[in-house]
Amino acid sequence: MKTFLQEVSLGLSKKNKKLSSKWFYDFYGSKLFEQITRLEEYYPTRTERKILKDNKTEIANEIGKSAVLIEPGAGDIKKIAIFLSSLDKPKKYIPLDISEDYITKLSQGFKKKFPKLAITPKGYDFSKNNKLPFKINSSENIIIFFPGSTLGNFEKKDAVKFLKMLKSKFKAKKIIIGVDLVKDIPTLISAYDDKKGITAKFNKNILQRINTELGGDINLNSYKHLAIYNKPKKRIEMRLKSKKNNNIKINGSKYLIKRNEEIHTENSHKYTIRSFKNLTGEAGWRIKKTWVDDKKLFSVHCLHLDKLG
Ligand code: AVI
Repeated sequence: MKTFLQEVSLGLSKKNKKLSSKWFYDFYGSKLFEQITRLEEYYPTRTERKILKDNKTEIANEIGKSAVLIEPGAGDIKKIAIFLSSLDKPKKYIPLDISEDYITKLSQGFKKKFPKLAITPKGYDFSKNNKLPFKINSSENIIIFFPGSTLGNFEKKDAVKFLKMLKSKFKAKKIIIGVDLVKDIPTLISAYDDKKGITAKFNKNILQRINTELGGDINLNSYKHLAIYNKPKKRIEMRLKSKKNNNIKINGSKYLIKRNEEIHTENSHKYTIRSFKNLTGEAGWRIKKTWVDDKKLFSVHCLHLDKLG
């Protein structure tokens, strides 16, 4: 697996420059993302929260008894709390996040709120094929909770791979998953290019990390945050556009980012119920139940193992 430095030097040497969105999330980046989720323009978080709240009894029924809940990329771990008290004797909650210090810190508050539940936070990068940092007992009622449309940040083939991996590696029986829906373009664009410029800061945090962690000399002001909707691929693409010719140095190596050249930093795919059904089907999962909000902005699904898959 490549290190941050290896990925950055590879990504910036390409003709079409590219950095992975997973590098947004150090402690500061996770904080910025938390701020994004509270922005007026960023509808996904509050809409998903409302869907979870309005349907918590049904969701709990789908999850069933003695659940072992695993949340990959748990982030601010607030969403599970919405339906946790509706569950029938949940056994364990394992929040996983790439930022170990962040998830450990947040879990402390959570432990106080739910003293009876065993909570074991772990640092885990699910984009790598690493060994799981905990034991799996495949006879348990293993439920994956994957909200926030994080699946949308994966390329389609990686999304299928990930859903398959939840079966083979995590031994998941069911998945509760949040997926953002295709909608009008202005709503989508403003969600990723907010007036306060928080998303721009979030996007540029990848450059900030190159400076602080890899000894880079990038001037953040020389780049413009872009959020573009790629209609054929049904996804928002975040990019950083160079305002001038930028000669940068990272760990002794030189790179030229030309004026108007763009560094692609994130994809955020949007689905229809049908396109999501096709995707899950490819991975051997079946949609058992779907919940949406009144405006059909966002969807939450319960997936079951497809007997044919
Ligand atoms: C984490 N993920 C689902 C967010 C999204 O909407 O794609 C990340 C994000 N990027 C910009 N704003 C939020």
